[in-house]
Amino acid sequence: MEIIVCKNYEEISKTAYKVFEEVILSRKNPVLGLATGSTPIGLYRELIDGYKKKRISFKNVTTVNLDEYVGLSKNHPQSYAYFMEENLFKSVDIDRKNARIPNGRKKNLNKECLRYSNLLSKTPRDIQLLGIGGNGHIAFNEPFSPFDGKTSVVNLSKKTIEDNSRFFDDINDVPTRAISMGISEIFSARKIVLLASGKNKAKAVYDAVKGSINPSCPASVLQNHKDCIFILDKDSAFLL
Ligand code: PGA
Repeated sequence: MEIIVCKNYEEISKTAYKVFEEVILSRKNPVLGLATGSTPIGLYRELIDGYKKKRISFKNVTTVNLDEYVGLSKNHPQSYAYFMEENLFKSVDIDRKNARIPNGRKKNLNKECLRYSNLLSKTPRDIQLLGIGGNGHIAFNEPFSPFDGKTSVVNLSKKTIEDNSRFFDDINDVPTRAISMGISEIFSARKIVLLASGKNKAKAVYDAVKGSINPSCPASVLQNHKDCIFILDKDSAFLL
Protein backbone atom coordinates (compact mmCIF):
# COMPACT_ATOMS: atom_id res chain seq x y z
CA MET A 1 0.00 0.00 0.00
CA GLU A 2 1.36 3.41 -0.97
CA ILE A 3 0.46 6.42 1.19
CA ILE A 4 0.64 9.94 -0.19
CA VAL A 5 0.01 12.77 2.25
CA CYS A 6 -0.99 16.03 0.57
CA LYS A 7 -1.04 19.50 2.06
CA ASN A 8 -4.71 20.09 1.32
CA TYR A 9 -7.81 18.92 -0.54
CA GLU A 10 -6.81 20.60 -3.79
CA GLU A 11 -3.54 18.70 -3.81
CA ILE A 12 -5.41 15.41 -3.15
CA SER A 13 -7.58 16.08 -6.19
CA LYS A 14 -4.65 17.00 -8.45
CA THR A 15 -2.60 14.00 -7.30
CA ALA A 16 -5.52 11.65 -7.91
CA TYR A 17 -6.08 13.25 -11.32
CA LYS A 18 -2.52 12.35 -12.37
CA VAL A 19 -3.12 8.70 -11.48
CA PHE A 20 -6.41 8.64 -13.42
CA GLU A 21 -4.89 10.45 -16.37
CA GLU A 22 -2.15 7.86 -16.63
CA VAL A 23 -4.67 5.00 -16.62
CA ILE A 24 -6.93 6.73 -19.18
CA LEU A 25 -4.01 7.45 -21.51
CA SER A 26 -2.43 4.01 -21.21
CA ARG A 27 -5.53 1.93 -22.09
CA LYS A 28 -7.47 1.70 -25.32
CA ASN A 29 -10.74 1.11 -23.52
CA PRO A 30 -10.19 2.21 -19.93
CA VAL A 31 -12.62 0.98 -17.29
CA LEU A 32 -12.94 3.29 -14.30
CA GLY A 33 -14.65 2.30 -11.07
CA LEU A 34 -16.15 5.52 -9.71
CA ALA A 35 -17.41 6.71 -6.35
CA THR A 36 -19.74 9.38 -5.03
CA GLY A 37 -19.71 11.51 -1.87
CA SER A 38 -18.03 14.82 -1.19
CA THR A 39 -14.43 13.60 -1.38
CA PRO A 40 -14.19 12.78 -5.13
CA ILE A 41 -15.77 16.04 -6.30
CA GLY A 42 -12.37 17.79 -6.63
CA LEU A 43 -11.01 14.89 -8.70
CA TYR A 44 -14.07 15.08 -10.97
CA ARG A 45 -13.42 18.80 -11.42
CA GLU A 46 -9.85 18.00 -12.44
CA LEU A 47 -11.05 15.31 -14.87
CA ILE A 48 -13.44 17.81 -16.47
CA ASP A 49 -10.59 20.32 -16.70
CA GLY A 50 -8.33 17.67 -18.26
CA TYR A 51 -11.06 16.92 -20.81
CA LYS A 52 -11.61 20.62 -21.61
CA LYS A 53 -7.88 21.10 -22.09
CA LYS A 54 -7.89 18.04 -24.40
CA ARG A 55 -5.46 16.09 -22.27
CA ILE A 56 -7.96 13.22 -21.87
CA SER A 57 -11.15 11.99 -23.49
CA PHE A 58 -13.92 9.76 -22.16
CA LYS A 59 -14.97 8.58 -25.62
CA ASN A 60 -13.65 5.07 -25.05
CA VAL A 61 -14.08 5.06 -21.28
CA THR A 62 -16.47 2.77 -19.42
CA THR A 63 -17.41 3.71 -15.87
CA VAL A 64 -18.84 1.45 -13.20
CA ASN A 65 -20.14 3.02 -10.00
CA LEU A 66 -19.88 1.54 -6.55
CA ASP A 67 -23.39 1.95 -5.27
CA GLU A 68 -26.83 3.52 -5.37
CA TYR A 69 -29.51 4.20 -2.78
CA VAL A 70 -32.58 1.96 -2.84
CA GLY A 71 -35.76 3.83 -3.73
CA LEU A 72 -34.38 7.03 -5.30
CA SER A 73 -35.04 7.63 -8.98
CA LYS A 74 -32.13 8.66 -11.17
CA ASN A 75 -33.57 12.19 -11.28
CA HIS A 76 -33.64 12.53 -7.50
CA PRO A 77 -30.99 15.15 -6.58
CA GLN A 78 -29.51 12.83 -3.94
CA SER A 79 -29.36 9.74 -6.13
CA TYR A 80 -25.89 8.71 -7.17
CA ALA A 81 -26.96 8.55 -10.82
CA TYR A 82 -27.86 12.25 -10.56
CA PHE A 83 -24.62 13.00 -8.71
CA MET A 84 -22.53 11.43 -11.48
CA GLU A 85 -24.46 13.29 -14.16
CA GLU A 86 -24.02 16.64 -12.41
CA ASN A 87 -20.44 16.23 -11.23
CA LEU A 88 -18.88 14.53 -14.23
CA PHE A 89 -20.86 12.98 -17.06
CA LYS A 90 -22.65 16.08 -18.36
CA SER A 91 -19.32 17.90 -18.72
CA VAL A 92 -17.32 15.26 -20.60
CA ASP A 93 -17.69 13.22 -23.79
CA ILE A 94 -18.69 9.91 -22.20
CA ASP A 95 -21.17 7.72 -24.06
CA ARG A 96 -23.96 7.29 -21.45
CA LYS A 97 -24.46 3.66 -22.40
CA ASN A 98 -20.96 3.02 -21.07
CA ALA A 99 -21.72 4.65 -17.70
CA ARG A 100 -22.98 1.95 -15.37
CA ILE A 101 -24.62 2.34 -12.00
CA PRO A 102 -26.91 -0.01 -10.05
CA ASN A 103 -30.62 0.73 -10.32
CA GLY A 104 -32.07 1.08 -6.84
CA ARG A 105 -35.63 1.42 -8.13
CA LYS A 106 -35.96 -2.07 -9.53
CA LYS A 107 -38.81 -4.13 -8.05
CA ASN A 108 -36.61 -7.21 -7.84
CA LEU A 109 -33.50 -5.87 -6.13
CA ASN A 110 -31.83 -9.28 -5.83
CA LYS A 111 -32.08 -9.71 -9.58
CA GLU A 112 -30.58 -6.24 -10.05
CA CYS A 113 -27.68 -7.18 -7.74
CA LEU A 114 -27.03 -10.33 -9.75
CA ARG A 115 -27.15 -8.36 -13.00
CA TYR A 116 -24.64 -5.86 -11.64
CA SER A 117 -22.39 -8.56 -10.27
CA ASN A 118 -22.35 -10.29 -13.67
CA LEU A 119 -21.59 -6.98 -15.33
CA LEU A 120 -18.65 -6.46 -12.96
CA SER A 121 -17.20 -9.88 -13.69
CA LYS A 122 -17.32 -9.07 -17.40
CA THR A 123 -15.93 -5.55 -16.88
CA PRO A 124 -12.64 -5.73 -15.00
CA ARG A 125 -11.73 -2.29 -13.70
CA ASP A 126 -8.35 -0.77 -14.50
CA ILE A 127 -8.74 1.54 -11.54
CA GLN A 128 -11.22 1.78 -8.68
CA LEU A 129 -11.80 5.05 -6.84
CA LEU A 130 -12.85 4.87 -3.20
CA GLY A 131 -13.75 7.19 -0.36
CA ILE A 132 -13.82 5.89 3.18
CA GLY A 133 -16.61 6.19 5.72
CA GLY A 134 -15.96 7.51 9.20
CA ASN A 135 -16.59 3.91 10.29
CA GLY A 136 -14.13 2.45 7.75
CA HIS A 137 -16.74 1.45 5.18
CA ILE A 138 -15.87 1.24 1.49
CA ALA A 139 -18.80 1.76 -0.87
CA PHE A 140 -21.68 0.82 1.47
CA ASN A 141 -19.87 -2.18 2.88
CA GLU A 142 -20.37 -1.36 6.53
CA PRO A 143 -18.26 -2.87 9.35
CA PHE A 144 -18.47 -6.68 9.43
CA SER A 145 -19.43 -7.00 5.76
CA PRO A 146 -17.77 -10.13 4.38
CA PHE A 147 -14.49 -9.69 2.51
CA ASP A 148 -15.70 -12.20 -0.09
CA GLY A 149 -19.01 -10.36 -0.60
CA LYS A 150 -20.49 -9.51 -3.99
CA THR A 151 -23.04 -6.87 -5.01
CA SER A 152 -25.95 -6.95 -2.60
CA VAL A 153 -28.66 -4.92 -0.92
CA VAL A 154 -27.23 -3.56 2.30
CA ASN A 155 -28.64 -1.78 5.32
CA LEU A 156 -26.91 1.50 6.06
CA SER A 157 -25.48 1.81 9.54
CA LYS A 158 -26.75 4.47 11.93
CA LYS A 159 -23.40 6.30 11.57
CA THR A 160 -23.64 6.34 7.76
CA ILE A 161 -27.25 7.59 7.87
CA GLU A 162 -26.17 10.36 10.25
CA ASP A 163 -23.12 11.24 8.11
CA ASN A 164 -25.17 11.36 4.90
CA SER A 165 -28.07 13.28 6.43
CA ARG A 166 -26.12 16.48 5.63
CA PHE A 167 -27.19 16.03 2.00
CA PHE A 168 -30.91 15.68 2.83
CA ASP A 169 -33.47 18.12 4.31
CA ASP A 170 -34.29 15.69 7.10
CA ILE A 171 -32.50 12.63 8.48
CA ASN A 172 -35.73 10.67 7.96
CA ASP A 173 -35.38 11.25 4.21
CA VAL A 174 -32.07 9.36 4.06
CA PRO A 175 -32.65 5.96 2.46
CA THR A 176 -31.87 3.13 4.86
CA ARG A 177 -30.79 0.68 2.17
CA ALA A 178 -28.52 0.71 -0.85
CA ILE A 179 -27.22 -1.58 -3.54
CA SER A 180 -23.48 -1.83 -3.05
CA MET A 181 -20.64 -3.45 -4.90
CA GLY A 182 -19.19 -6.14 -2.63
CA ILE A 183 -15.72 -6.05 -1.12
CA SER A 184 -14.40 -8.89 -3.31
CA GLU A 185 -15.53 -6.99 -6.41
CA ILE A 186 -13.87 -3.78 -5.23
CA PHE A 187 -10.71 -5.73 -4.48
CA SER A 188 -10.62 -7.26 -7.96
CA ALA A 189 -9.76 -3.89 -9.58
CA ARG A 190 -6.20 -3.74 -10.96
CA LYS A 191 -5.46 -0.54 -9.11
CA ILE A 192 -7.25 1.08 -6.19
CA VAL A 193 -7.10 4.74 -5.19
CA LEU A 194 -8.65 5.75 -1.87
CA LEU A 195 -9.10 9.44 -1.08
CA ALA A 196 -9.68 10.84 2.38
CA SER A 197 -9.83 14.37 3.71
CA GLY A 198 -10.56 15.76 7.15
CA LYS A 199 -10.01 14.87 10.79
CA ASN A 200 -13.30 12.93 10.91
CA LYS A 201 -11.64 10.29 8.70
CA ALA A 202 -8.41 9.99 10.73
CA LYS A 203 -9.47 7.05 12.90
CA ALA A 204 -10.86 5.09 9.93
CA VAL A 205 -7.67 5.79 7.93
CA TYR A 206 -5.54 4.67 10.86
CA ASP A 207 -7.53 1.43 11.27
CA ALA A 208 -7.38 0.80 7.51
CA VAL A 209 -3.62 1.33 7.26
CA LYS A 210 -2.23 0.28 10.63
CA GLY A 211 -4.96 -1.87 12.16
CA SER A 212 -5.37 -5.61 11.78
CA ILE A 213 -6.96 -6.80 8.55
CA ASN A 214 -10.39 -7.39 9.89
CA PRO A 215 -14.02 -6.93 8.71
CA SER A 216 -14.56 -4.56 11.66
CA CYS A 217 -12.78 -2.06 9.38
CA PRO A 218 -13.75 -2.99 5.79
CA ALA A 219 -11.04 -0.74 4.29
CA SER A 220 -8.33 -2.74 6.10
CA VAL A 221 -8.71 -5.41 3.39
CA LEU A 222 -6.84 -3.00 1.09
CA GLN A 223 -3.59 -3.75 2.95
CA ASN A 224 -3.57 -6.99 0.94
CA HIS A 225 -4.06 -5.36 -2.46
CA LYS A 226 -0.99 -5.30 -4.68
CA ASP A 227 -1.57 -1.85 -6.18
CA CYS A 228 -3.40 0.41 -3.76
CA ILE A 229 -2.72 4.10 -3.10
CA PHE A 230 -4.16 6.13 -0.24
CA ILE A 231 -4.15 9.84 -1.10
CA LEU A 232 -4.74 11.75 2.12
CA ASP A 233 -4.58 15.24 3.50
CA LYS A 234 -2.70 16.02 6.71
CA ASP A 235 -5.88 15.94 8.79
CA SER A 236 -7.00 12.47 7.72
CA ALA A 237 -3.41 11.19 8.05
CA PHE A 238 -2.66 12.74 11.41
CA LEU A 239 -2.88 9.49 13.42
CA LEU A 240 -0.51 7.58 11.12
P1 PGA B 1 -17.61 11.36 1.75
O1 PGA B 1 -18.07 9.85 1.83
O2 PGA B 1 -16.67 11.44 0.59
O3 PGA B 1 -18.86 12.14 1.51
O4 PGA B 1 -16.93 11.69 3.05
C1 PGA B 1 -17.14 8.82 1.74
C2 PGA B 1 -17.78 7.50 2.07
O5 PGA B 1 -18.70 7.46 2.92
O6 PGA B 1 -17.35 6.48 1.52
